[in-house]
Amino acid sequence: MKQLDLLYQGKAKSVYRSDEQGTLIMRFRDDITAFDGEKKDVLGGKGGYNTEVSAFFFRYLEERGIKTHFLGMIDPITMAVRDLTMIPLEVIVRNVAAGSIVRRYPFTEGAPLDPPVIVIDYKDDSRHDPMLNDDLILALRLTTREELDQIKANALAINELLKDHLDARGIILVDFKMEFGRRDGTIHLGDEISMDSMRLWDKETRQSMDKDVYRFNKGDVMTEYAKVAKRIIS
Ligand code: CDP
Repeated sequence: MKQLDLLYQGKAKSVYRSDEQGTLIMRFRDDITAFDGEKKDVLGGKGGYNTEVSAFFFRYLEERGIKTHFLGMIDPITMAVRDLTMIPLEVIVRNVAAGSIVRRYPFTEGAPLDPPVIVIDYKDDSRHDPMLNDDLILALRLTTREELDQIKANALAINELLKDHLDARGIILVDFKMEFGRRDGTIHLGDEISMDSMRLWDKETRQSMDKDVYRFNKGDVMTEYAKVAKRIIS
């Protein structure tokens, strides 16, 4: 497959057109950002760990009946993915209270959320990704009612599958963010599932093993990403 022009450049990934109809090329970069891009760095090797974990989870989910954009690996930091019509929503599932939900609402950090809480933000950096509700999503014509129901059902099913896998490896899935797109009338999981988009705590020590290590200077980010990637794919 040949890589053609750059289609989209995000904060940590670049997406290119390919010479195959309906297939895009997605490359994970070593850039890392936090707090709306206020904190940023380049960490050699980070893209590789996130690609490895994302590819692992896409395969794992596909094998269990979840539709994703993943087609295959091109090199250790590059994937071939289905061209989806992306929906500008950040769909977050929370199993334990942490991050913005603790800042904004009277939850105690670390409190279990059972059943899990779905929070959907509008993916719009210029508006700082404001939180939406069903009525706003429908009024903004971002999805149909049926699509929104499908997105929520998918998000919860993905959460259960990821939680099972991580729990067996001594890792708590605190929360994570997904992005979905349309293809052939069906909702597919797009974007990535990596240490940049999940909050992961060690079950024993409850220490962070994800981007919070970078956000809050909790230790050496690359050492943590390497360790957790190894645990996840084992
Ligand atoms: O903690 P923060 O204010 O970044 O946001 P949050 O709403 O607590 O984030 C919930 C989860 O979604 C965390 O695992 C974040 O890493 C992830 N997230 C993301 O990957 N990208 C965003 N733009 C926002 C959140």
